[in-house]
Amino acid sequence: MLLDELKSAQAQAEQDIVAAQSMKEINEIRGKVFGKSGILTSLSRGMRDVAPEERPKVGALINEVRTALEAALEDKQTQLEQAELNLKLESEQIDITEPAQGKCKGALHPIPSVIDRLCDICVELGFSVVEGPEVESDYYNFEAMNIPKNHPSRDMQDTFFINDNILLRSQTSAVQAREMEVKKPPFKIICPGKTYRNDSDSTHSPVFHQLEGLVIDENVSMADLKSMLTIIMKRLYGDDTVIRFRPSFFPFTEPSIEVDVSCPTCHGKGCSLCKGTGMLELLGAGIVNPKVLEMSGIDSKKYRGFAFGFGLDRTAMILNSIGNIKYLYKNDKRFLEQMK
Ligand code: DAH
Repeated sequence: MLLDELKSAQAQAEQDIVAAQSMKEINEIRGKVFGKSGILTSLSRGMRDVAPEERPKVGALINEVRTALEAALEDKQTQLEQAELNLKLESEQIDITEPAQGKCKGALHPIPSVIDRLCDICVELGFSVVEGPEVESDYYNFEAMNIPKNHPSRDMQDTFFINDNILLRSQTSAVQAREMEVKKPPFKIICPGKTYRNDSDSTHSPVFHQLEGLVIDENVSMADLKSMLTIIMKRLYGDDTVIRFRPSFFPFTEPSIEVDVSCPTCHGKGCSLCKGTGMLELLGAGIVNPKVLEMSGIDSKKYRGFAFGFGLDRTAMILNSIGNIKYLYKNDKRFLEQMK
């Protein structure tokens, strides 16, 4: 009786194993055969009713069936795993002959790239790089730069005021007074950064960038300023660049100059970039007004200084032949891709 049951259980299990298509089914069969209420478990319990002399024979048979079924399950499991692996390998096949897709390499935006170049040049010349706040007080942006309230030169900078005393800095010159208040002369600093004015056309943007330079020492002269600017401009635009100095006016420098360089595109012959003049206006500079030194607590009898400030957007436009300042702020990938 028990032996018949054992035989039919084995046949059924073997049939199920052959038919199984997944690991889930294999585990179900395992449960049905070897589990707590599995068929082999209950047949083993049935040994109680077998005559004692028959028990060793029946016990050995049950063990034989157990070993055979375990082996069959193990085989089937290996088969299924292999089939699964083959399927995966087939569907994930890699075509090693396909040409590689080039990596998408980014590039520095022209503004930070110009800032990096100028900082490298100036640091080599002994300047340290400093920063100042973009939300600035009227005092540092104007008053400490010798531009008192109601001074007509304020009109040249259409400033974004936040309230009567707080504004978005209209010039990096604001950093000059901040540094003079805290640094002991002699020192040489440059300050690149964002500046803001209510101005917008093909060469002006409400947000733009300037780089300010300031040197304070005992015997600083216009000759030092001119030679320093000549070195910086030649390193930036090339050794054959012609530099022109013109008298000008700024409240914070006395005397003041404006600096032009020969157009790097046409080398002075005249083209659309320089509007046929052969020269490009680049920056303002001068000998720091003694009033500015005194306001910031520097003894103007002992120390003198020179300063310069120029537009970085214009510099980036000249160096990269960019026709409209708006391209610098549009975030258009097609434009940025050309900067690689
Ligand atoms: N701050 C001036 C401007 O925005 C530029 C400038 C001129 C800066 C002369 C200077 C300077 O330091 O000496 O137009």
